[in-house]
Amino acid sequence: MASTYPPLNLAVRTPRITLAAATDAMLERLVPVVRAGVVTEGGPLPFDDPMSLYEQSPAREWQWMRRIWSGRARVEADFWRLYFVVCDGGEPVGMQDLIANDFADLGTVHTFSWLAPGVRGRGLGKESRAAILHLAFEGFGAREASSDAFIDNEASNRVSEAVGYTRNGTDWATRRGEPCLLQRWRLTRAAWQERRRTDITLSGVEECKPVLGL
Ligand SMILES: CC(C)(COP(=O)(O)OP(=O)(O)OC[C@H]1O[C@@H](n2cnc3c(N)ncnc32)[C@H](O)[C@@H]1OP(=O)(O)O)[C@@H](O)C(=O)NCCC(=O)NCCS
Repeated sequence: MASTYPPLNLAVRTPRITLAAATDAMLERLVPVVRAGVVTEGGPLPFDDPMSLYEQSPAREWQWMRRIWSGRARVEADFWRLYFVVCDGGEPVGMQDLIANDFADLGTVHTFSWLAPGVRGRGLGKESRAAILHLAFEGFGAREASSDAFIDNEASNRVSEAVGYTRNGTDWATRRGEPCLLQRWRLTRAAWQERRRTDITLSGVEECKPVLGL
């Protein structure tokens, strides 16, 4: 059933995946993945602080939900964040967010994502990024997209490179309290247009624009 609130009706579909707006029903379906754990043992930590996914279950799920609820509630022209659940064959396997500061003036967006450990390395990260970029550039008319990842996060950095971003300097952030270098990436509209896909469809964009101050 369609929501009264347009951001919760947004969807992006590619031949492989759907980005479904993170309604409470979708979040509930993703809880088992969060409970099972998104941060793998032994590998480099992927997220900067603060991050609910570093916490122990069940506080992890509670905090994860609270962060999404509070983010969903703060939607103004100068800041918004749209949360999507990545569905592969109908199964929720991760999240893909689109974040904007002063979008009406700047036209810039930032993306954030994670996938369940068991489905990584099969191209879903690239597919999900391509899908959210289609929403940003085609749907909302973005001028530029940015992303960043810790220097040792090979999968995330490779996703950015593979879909056409160029390096845009570095920054510092902490992960579990320890400082680590972030690689920053940017993708211009012109670079996106060179590789833009023709097999991605958007739903609910026009109805959503007024909510975002567009
Ligand atoms: C980052 C993430 C979303 C990428 O999704 P993914 O499905 O694993 O990535 P893909 O399968 O689409 O692979 C994208 C590219 O990275 C490469 N890659 C994937 N995993 C890799 C790894 N562990 N080491 C090196 N390269 C890797 C792939 O070969 C592919 O490169 P190619 O285009 O040359 O073939 C996913 O790995 C993840 O959830 N990681 C943990 C959370 C995270 O890091 N989030 C981002 C925080 S900034």
